Amino acid sequence: MPRSRVLPVLLGLFGLVVLASPLTFGLAGIPGVSPPDAITDSGDTINRVYWVIYALAAIVFIVVEATLVLFIFRYRRRRPGAVADAEGPQIHGNTTVEVLWTVIPALLLLGLAIFTFSQVPDVEAKPTGDEDALVVDVTAHQFYWQYRYRDSGALSYDRLVLPVGRKISLVLRSADVDHSWWVPELTGKRDAIPGRTNELHFRTRRTASLDSGVCGEFCGIQHARMVFRVDVVPQGEFDSFISDTTPDAVDQIALGKEQWRAACAKCHGFEGQGDIGPAIAGNNTLTNLESLRQLLYEGQNLEANPGYMPPVGKGWTDEQIRTLIAYVKSNDKLAPPGDGGGQSGG
Ligand code: CUA
Repeated sequence: MPRSRVLPVLLGLFGLVVLASPLTFGLAGIPGVSPPDAITDSGDTINRVYWVIYALAAIVFIVVEATLVLFIFRYRRRRPGAVADAEGPQIHGNTTVEVLWTVIPALLLLGLAIFTFSQVPDVEAKPTGDEDALVVDVTAHQFYWQYRYRDSGALSYDRLVLPVGRKISLVLRSADVDHSWWVPELTGKRDAIPGRTNELHFRTRRTASLDSGVCGEFCGIQHARMVFRVDVVPQGEFDSFISDTTPDAVDQIALGKEQWRAACAKCHGFEGQGDIGPAIAGNNTLTNLESLRQLLYEGQNLEANPGYMPPVGKGWTDEQIRTLIAYVKSNDKLAPPGDGGGQSGG
C-alpha cells in the first residue's frame, strides 16, 4: 500500500472500531457500553441522554486522537528530505487557535448542560395527582428489599411484582443505613435514606422479567447480595398475585421462606448452616417470638465487634415475625429439636 494511504486507512479503521463497539458488543449479547432497553418513558429519556453524550464524546475523541496521530506522522523528525538536526519554527502564542480551543469546548459543555437539564422532568416523571397510581412502600434493610403493596397489605421480599401499563409510585425508606434502589430498565437510581422518604414514579409499557435490580449504594458487608427481581405482569396476573399474598390468604410458609431467604440466609446460609454469620440451624431463638423480635430489632453488638449483626428485621410486625417462625418450624433442618423439627419434609 502506498505510504500516503496508510494513515487515512488506519484512522478510518480506528473510527469504525470506536463507533461500532456498542453495536458489536450489543449484538454479541455482551453488555459493552450499551444501556439495557428501557420499558418506561423515563428509562428511554435516560438512554437518550446517555447516547447523546456518548456520541459527542466519541466525535471529540476521534477528532483529537486523529489529529494527534496525524501530527506524529506529519511532523516527525525524520521525514524524507529533512535535515537530521533541524529545529522547528519557534512559535509564541496564536490567538486564533487559543480562542478556538477555549470557545469550542465551552460551547459543547454548555450545549450538553442545557440538553441534560431539559430532559430532567421526563426522567423524574412526577405524579400528576389525578392518576390512579399503584403505591408500593419499599423498605431497604441490610441486606434485602421489603415491598408492601399499600392497598392490600400484601408483602414480598427481594421480588417486586407490578401490573403492566399502570402508573407506579414507589415510596422508599431505609430501616438502617443508606441504600439505593436501581433497576436500569425502569428508571434512574433513587436512594433510601434513614429518616427520609423518597419517591420514584414510572409507568411500564410492556411485561418483563427483570433480574437486574441492585442496591446502588455501598451499605455493608453483604451489599452485593441486595439484588432483586421485578416482574411486570398483565393486570389479571397481578390481581391474583395480590389476592394470593394478602395477609388473610397468604401461604405463611411460602412467605416465611421468602423472608428467610432475604433476611437470614444471606449471612447464615439457606439451611442455617453458617456462612459469614454463624450457624443458627436449630437455635431456640428462631421460634421464640419475644427473643426473635429482640434480635431482629436490635441485631447484635459484641464488645469486640459492634454491629456484629445488623437489626435485620427492624420495624417488622409481629405478623411478619410469626410468618418467619412458621417457616422455621416447617423446616426440619432449621427447627429447634422438639419444636417441629423432624416433623415435615422441610
Ligand atoms: Cu443496600 Cu448496598
